Amino acid sequence: MLNVSEIRKDFPMLNNKKMSNYPLIYLDNAATTFKPDCVIDTVVNYYKNYSCNIHRGDYELSYQISDEYDKTRKVVANFINSEDKEVVFTSGASESLNLIAYGYGMNNLTKGDVILTCEAEHASNILPWFKVAEKTGATIEYIPLQNDGVLSIENFKKAMHSNVKVVTLAHISNVLGYVNPIKEITKIAHEYNAIVICDGAQSVPHVKVDVKDLDIDFLAFSGHKMCAATGVGIMYGKYDLLNAMEPFMLGGGSNARFDMCGNIQLKNAPFKFESGTPAIEAVLSIGAAVKYLEKIGMDNIEEYELELKKYAISKIEKLENIICYNSLAETGIITFNVKDVFAQDAACYLNSKGIAVRAGNHCAKILMNTLNTSETIRASFYFYNTYEEVDFFVETLKEVTVENCINILF
Ligand SMILES: Cc1ncc(COP(=O)(O)O)c(C=O)c1O
Repeated sequence: MLNVSEIRKDFPMLNNKKMSNYPLIYLDNAATTFKPDCVIDTVVNYYKNYSCNIHRGDYELSYQISDEYDKTRKVVANFINSEDKEVVFTSGASESLNLIAYGYGMNNLTKGDVILTCEAEHASNILPWFKVAEKTGATIEYIPLQNDGVLSIENFKKAMHSNVKVVTLAHISNVLGYVNPIKEITKIAHEYNAIVICDGAQSVPHVKVDVKDLDIDFLAFSGHKMCAATGVGIMYGKYDLLNAMEPFMLGGGSNARFDMCGNIQLKNAPFKFESGTPAIEAVLSIGAAVKYLEKIGMDNIEEYELELKKYAISKIEKLENIICYNSLAETGIITFNVKDVFAQDAACYLNSKGIAVRAGNHCAKILMNTLNTSETIRASFYFYNTYEEVDFFVETLKEVTVENCINILF
């Protein structure tokens, strides 16, 4: 069991912070998460006590910080159960997904090949594949979703065929919070010799993700959605696939040598993908964040968020003014609308009571057709949210009417 009131003391943003003169209730954790002191201290310690580059300086400070940086790769690798050399530091999930599309897709797909995905994907996991399709002649196909937005294994099986070379899907949808059956999907995809790319932006922060158990070929996620700083993400890839990929960025750090004729000898993965000075403090912060999450326990986090979500749904279902799109999703995301109220207006009303949620299409623009709405409101929990916060949120939802929104807005 989590001791949430103790945990909350670790987060300066949860320490009597107010918004609109109300105690802040932060329910936008799918967008980004708050940072505990240990993460903030790691960043500050880098700037106060090191502030030098890695892998370049022939002096003690640089050796020390290079060592910390290299150890972070091991910390992350242990967290997802991969080899150290399979962990590539990027700036975030978006860069990781683009790197896979440009580095693997552009070099390994050709006319007649199919990229299989679904309508619920985040823009970062679909737009790069539009470019790959445009350049290589491959085509994109979509696994039909059920009416409730669920991606069923049956529909995946129907959509899978021998021309599919890449299956690219979120582990957990950022809009509906459904957990896709990635392990089963991967097993079937491999029988067709297709590779599986898993967008873990919404799963790695909330559930235990084991790349060996899932047997996925690539995994992408962001540090800032799991308590680390912004500006760091991870691309995991099976080592033979990393070697079959080209970096889409070149520069210092990624090459072993080059000459005047343009011959470049790249280093082995993961280094060939890491050109230029990285966000050193952010990389260090993901190490601190992982250790922090591991101390709490990923199983505890998953269990607590699910309980909190179920509690919230049991109350929200009783409200006549709310349309909820994902009551059954087994993660801490609730996607809903308030009857007759524009999503953004409802979010503004909630803001006036100190509650932070997100309204819009959540970067999954195609999914809105399936849901038959142009916008939704998303409340997303993390392990530091409380039952009391849920109570206040639900009470406030009762007040969201056209008249009350007009009063707030005008
Ligand atoms: C499912 C999913 N994929 C990818 C991303 C992109 O992450 P980032 O903006 O950190 O690069 C997000 C961000 O919201 C997401 O929810």
